[in-house]
Amino acid sequence: MFPDIEVNDKGHLLIGGADAVELADEYGTPLYVIDEMRIRENYRRLHRAFSGEYSRFQVFYACKANTNLAVMRILEEEGSGIDAVSPGEIYTALMAGFDPDRILYTGNNVRDDELQFAIDSGVRINVDSRSQLLRLSEIAPEGLRISFRVNPLVGAGHHEHCITGGEMSKFGVMEREAPEVYRMAMDLGFEPVGIHAHIGSGILDPEPFMLAVETLMDIAGRVHEATGVEFEFIDFGGGLGIPYTPEEEPLDIDEFASKITGLFKDKLSEYGLGRPMMCLEPGRYIVGDASYLLTRVNTIKESYRKFAGVDAGFNTFLRPAMYGSYHHILVAERPLDEPSEKMDVAGNVCESGDLFARDRQLPEINEGDVLAIMNAGAYSFSMSSQYNSRPRPAEVLVREGKVDVVRERETFSDLLRGQNVPARLLKR
Ligand code: LLP
Repeated sequence: MFPDIEVNDKGHLLIGGADAVELADEYGTPLYVIDEMRIRENYRRLHRAFSGEYSRFQVFYACKANTNLAVMRILEEEGSGIDAVSPGEIYTALMAGFDPDRILYTGNNVRDDELQFAIDSGVRINVDSRSQLLRLSEIAPEGLRISFRVNPLVGAGHHEHCITGGEMSKFGVMEREAPEVYRMAMDLGFEPVGIHAHIGSGILDPEPFMLAVETLMDIAGRVHEATGVEFEFIDFGGGLGIPYTPEEEPLDIDEFASKITGLFKDKLSEYGLGRPMMCLEPGRYIVGDASYLLTRVNTIKESYRKFAGVDAGFNTFLRPAMYGSYHHILVAERPLDEPSEKMDVAGNVCESGDLFARDRQLPEINEGDVLAIMNAGAYSFSMSSQYNSRPRPAEVLVREGKVDVVRERETFSDLLRGQNVPARLLKR
């Protein structure tokens, strides 16, 4: 999954055919650079692998990974649906042109007005709890088609915070109460048509995923037997990982697809579940390796340790500080240089945890160099903030060397947007 590193005749890093150093010079840093074709290739590889094994297959791209409108347009063109977790994501998906029927809203701890917004938008609603079901029943039209998120008691993920199945998880209805909540939904006048689970994020090992598929299918089977519900779709969530270190191996997607669909089909016939749509909700797999964060080195400090200080911080890109995530770093001017020295790459936020790399073997780095932080396409801009009163960066989309600014860099006025100072506090 590590894209092959491409260079031009100057030896500079190429992203989607564009020179990374020139991008940094022209559009400023920090800058997110999104490679359009990489997103399309990732989507197509995944879609081909699964639909080749089971034709009734649908992707619901988990847009929390990257909600840039251009990214969402690309995926709409490719035929994806959207996994939305908030009214804001529903709104963004509608603005990106997704048909409401292609948007599955999986909210957690949702307010009544948010449920109303989902109903008014005409999106599909995936119910997370009995409380949500009861509150939805007060406002839903008769016969509303819904699904349930079930916690299959299997969890996995690259970090404790990213495991969403199992007894510690706040998500979904308990597997043992599943038949009862489906029955309850029918009694309340709903038409349940789907079942869903998402066990966690950043999974490179097919085993826990297989176990989740098996468990969810057994739950679906029990629900069908107990209530007669006919499933139109069964959704196994997202979670497919990508390699972040050069040593990690990518998922063998064809093998993964064949194992999962094999098990899925066996279970369909075991329980007489017909031929429902099989759905997946990948976020990271689709966009993770399709972006780079470009940031310029402004300070080389030989202190108690050696630091390369850059003009991005954890406000720009949170994953390393939040999860201790490894992100490979290249020097955009000389991406093929061999590592020669250990150092830390530190951001510009006033906290010691603001590091993009600790004790990392890196090639020679000089002040003024542009660093390209790899695999910054998922949970990157979408988790950025204005902490330390730093405007958010710009995003550009590249394809065959053509560059489009798909998000303007914020300015100081964005830092003040929406704030009001009471008249009594105004400076006279
Ligand atoms: N479906 C649901 C219901 C989800 O909650 C998620 C992610 C996905 C699908 C997509 O998961 P993916 O295919 O991207 O692994 N901020 C963390 C990841 C949090 C994931 C939250 N839910 C990170 O940077 O690693």
